[in-house]
Amino acid sequence: MSWSGCLKVGLRPLAGDRIEYTHVSQPAMPVAVEKACQEGAGQVMSGAAETLARCCKPSTRLVILSGSGMSAESGIPTFRDAQTGLWSRFRPEDLATPEAFARDPERVWRWYEHRRDGVRAARPHAGHRALVDLETRVARLTIVTQNVDGLHQRSGSQRVLELHGNILRSICSVSRKPISETWLSTAEDVPPRSPHTSEGLARPDVVWFGESLPEHAFHEAVGEVNNCDVCIAVGTSALVQPAASLPMIAREAGAFLAEINPVPTPLSNHVDVFLREPAGRALTQLLSIMQAMPG
Ligand code: APR
Repeated sequence: MSWSGCLKVGLRPLAGDRIEYTHVSQPAMPVAVEKACQEGAGQVMSGAAETLARCCKPSTRLVILSGSGMSAESGIPTFRDAQTGLWSRFRPEDLATPEAFARDPERVWRWYEHRRDGVRAARPHAGHRALVDLETRVARLTIVTQNVDGLHQRSGSQRVLELHGNILRSICSVSRKPISETWLSTAEDVPPRSPHTSEGLARPDVVWFGESLPEHAFHEAVGEVNNCDVCIAVGTSALVQPAASLPMIAREAGAFLAEINPVPTPLSNHVDVFLREPAGRALTQLLSIMQAMPG
């Protein structure tokens, strides 16, 4: 199916596969969530988690769409969180563009070096491990991630589609061919020059704003959400397109839709259950409810 053919969704998706922010005002808190907060979020959360757990059966095809909130408890700040130290005067969305790299490749490369250090130091958390266990309890579990840190794979998840690339890999800015760590470790320039073309530079293998998603991963992701029974959006603001449209495509195709986020998003009013909790806590609770269910 073509991407434009599946755009019957409610979150103002873009008619393309280039990543872009949607500009929406702060979403109103959904009525059900507001009530949950007044009544005591913990108690209501476990009711929502139970409902979700009952939907995840051995025959279920489950898709997890993860965003940067999934990595927050591993110590990697979310994409929108304030930058720290030297980088606090820059907005990530102003550095993560081809234009920023063309203007000042050294600055952009150094920013990615700083972020890579954070990713290398991070470890998967209990929520990542819960997803690895969940894989054994459903027919098929696919993680579609906007994260570029590889934490799902490091924790042992088998089927991970990286929509925005991987920060630990580098490519040539002209030919887009991979550049090895060995080449980078001996390079003296910042950024290192490309071994593939004389005018190319090394750049991170991530999708910048205005660039297209990797075609294969994106089309697979669209196929997965069109054919799943349950879709859970975890730790995403649902503001970066086209990834933000995937949960609504799942819903339109008849899937049960859940969201895990401590803060409501534009998606929250469209989901069947909203677990207003950090990812680690919500996913471990979901897993323990499933473990306690009679087989
Ligand atoms: N558990 C779950 N969600 C959390 C947590 C947590 N512990 N902490 C924060 N969040 C939520 C925030 O409330 C927010 O809704 O994670 C979301 C993070 O939103 P963004 O920073 O916008 O990240 P994301 O949705 O992933 O979109 C940005 O664009 O260029 C890219 O690859 C980049 O993934 C990034 C994406």
